[in-house]
Amino acid sequence: MSEVGGQIRHFLDLEDAGADDIAAMIADAIDRKDARAGRPKGAPDADAPLAGRVLALVFEKSSTRTRVSFDIAMRQLGGSVLLLDSASSQLGRGESIADTARVLSRMVDGIMLRTDDHAKIEEMARHATVPVINGLTDRSHPCQIVADLLTVIEHGKALPGLEVAWFGDGNNVLHSILEAAGLFMFNVRVATPAGYEPDPTFVALARAGGAQVTLTQDARAAARGADLLVTDTWISMGQADAAEKRAAMTPYRVDAALMAEAKPDALFLHCLPAHIGDEVSEEVFESPRSVVFDEAENRIHAQKSVLLWSFGLLGS
Ligand code: CP
Ligand code: NVA
Repeated sequence: MSEVGGQIRHFLDLEDAGADDIAAMIADAIDRKDARAGRPKGAPDADAPLAGRVLALVFEKSSTRTRVSFDIAMRQLGGSVLLLDSASSQLGRGESIADTARVLSRMVDGIMLRTDDHAKIEEMARHATVPVINGLTDRSHPCQIVADLLTVIEHGKALPGLEVAWFGDGNNVLHSILEAAGLFMFNVRVATPAGYEPDPTFVALARAGGAQVTLTQDARAAARGADLLVTDTWISMGQADAAEKRAAMTPYRVDAALMAEAKPDALFLHCLPAHIGDEVSEEVFESPRSVVFDEAENRIHAQKSVLLWSFGLLGS
């Protein structure tokens, strides 16, 4: 089953699942992670709930974590993946998203797409008759944020009322954090240079859900008393690596002085890949408060839940 109530369960953004189902995903991820502790990473979970299912991983941009974690997640759930990228598939020669969606839907059970324009994944979902999962677009990165929420909860923090501080570029990862803030009622202080603020749609979404969102150019003020400090690359995939952008971003580097403004037990998160010395200092990245490798590992555990939800085996 990959339809619930006649609806295919696409996961293009967090709101497709909603707060209750994301909470169920996180709970299931914790249970499955505990249950398989110490087993070889490619060994299937005892129930192998996706036995026989194949997921197509379609990449129009580079990836390490998303690619490996979806592959290992499917193996652990008893299924398998196949990999397509634009350079070696007909997508790169101009075959339409609509036709690709219709062909893949006849051949595989689900599709993960990493692409640039969010409209492309919406087009894929419109034409696919199997679930489509967003593996990152220029607009959002929901799978990353399920893993981030799992990581924060594992480190003993409750989401409601959490003070989350973001530094640097108002990008796709921040957009999904803002979406999560509205669903789980945590607050976000967004410190960016002028002109690099997040899309106002996501700020409005968070506020509509009851989250407090502060937009500031003052990194210190954003860090003061925060529970989580989060950043990401200053130059996302597909963006121009402009000297003026780097210069504008420099005051937003997460370093020891910024961490010192936060709560004593504050955590540092970064979706990776990191650029040490740009958005984060080596001292913070390598410190005990940095949970970036837990966050990376949790991509597997979180994605297993996203997959089970998409296939109608988890959630309401
Ligand atoms: N965080 C993340 O999505 O990493 P990759 O680009 O390596 O997949
Ligand atoms: N904002 C980054 C995230 C990489 C996982 C990018 O889009 O390149």
